[in-house]
Amino acid sequence: MKIFKEYGYYKELIERHIMDFIPEIEPNSKTLYDSMHYSLENGGKRIRPAMLLAACDLSGGDVAQALPYACAIEYIHTYSLIHDDLPSMDDDDMRRGAPTNHVAFGEAVAILAGDGLLTSAFEAMNKDMLIYFDSPELLKRRIRASYEISKGAGCKGMVAGQIADIESENKSASKELIDDIHLNKTAALMVAAVKAGAYLGGAGKELVADLESYGENIGLAFQIADDIQDTLEDRGGATADSGTIRNRPAYPTLYGLDESRKRFEGVIGNARKIIAPYYDNAEFFVELIDMIIGLAERGQIAADDKA
Ligand code: IPE
Ligand code: IPE
Ligand code: MG
Ligand code: MG
Repeated sequence: MKIFKEYGYYKELIERHIMDFIPEIEPNSKTLYDSMHYSLENGGKRIRPAMLLAACDLSGGDVAQALPYACAIEYIHTYSLIHDDLPSMDDDDMRRGAPTNHVAFGEAVAILAGDGLLTSAFEAMNKDMLIYFDSPELLKRRIRASYEISKGAGCKGMVAGQIADIESENKSASKELIDDIHLNKTAALMVAAVKAGAYLGGAGKELVADLESYGENIGLAFQIADDIQDTLEDRGGATADSGTIRNRPAYPTLYGLDESRKRFEGVIGNARKIIAPYYDNAEFFVELIDMIIGLAERGQIAADDKA
């Protein structure tokens, strides 16, 4: 049986190159390097950079050339998690089974590690663009990719989702608001990943549009699965996650568990439908759907075990 071969391939490539685009660090800033390295190397699934590389592949591009952008999006994702865990944000002590960055290095260093990762992302992409200065078509693809990544990470993307999430605490959110939060907080970077990869690979308009709506549906599915998992774990007596403790609106509290599962199946079905015409060349995107279903099912199993 073949298990996530394509995902494993992209993931391995990213693991091998993840530190390549972090600038060489002066001895005086070694702590900064150590804290960035700590969060970059502690077991992330690398979903977003794998999406970027797979979209580049599907569009006929060379994945090796997309690596600066793939690593850049993982740097941004990692910074977002370090800042998300800070005492002034979600105040979480553990991530991926290990102490969070501020617990390991202190709050000031963790803030700077996030700053360092965010700026390194743009340094990596800009450095790559300089190489293509005299090749307008190739440079254009890279500017487009970098713009998608900036947009997804920024004030109309991930950061917008984070502020809306924080401000939703203890408020009764509408269904529109919760969709908006999740589209920004979670789906925006996934959409950015596939669009950036598509542009880098030279995709036409139709493929870019299909990958964009695939990314949106996958992003929503990912977040609904996460919400369902948190709810089931709470019911099973596991430690509640900080979002639940802080009373932020989630799918199950708003829609109920059954309705949330239906919504999950709905967005998963949309993603499957969108990718179906590309099936023979889009193995990773089918695997990613199955992987997200697997994440949701593991939450169910963990909850059943603890009940
Ligand atoms: C966690 O994302 C944060 C959310 C957007 C829900 P991932 O589950 O992709 O994080 P890692 O990098 O694999 O730990
Ligand atoms: C983290 O969202 C998402 C971003 C950093 C953009 P959450 O706060 O809901 O996720 P976890 O539970 O900390 O991973
Ligand atoms: Mg949060
Ligand atoms: Mg959090």
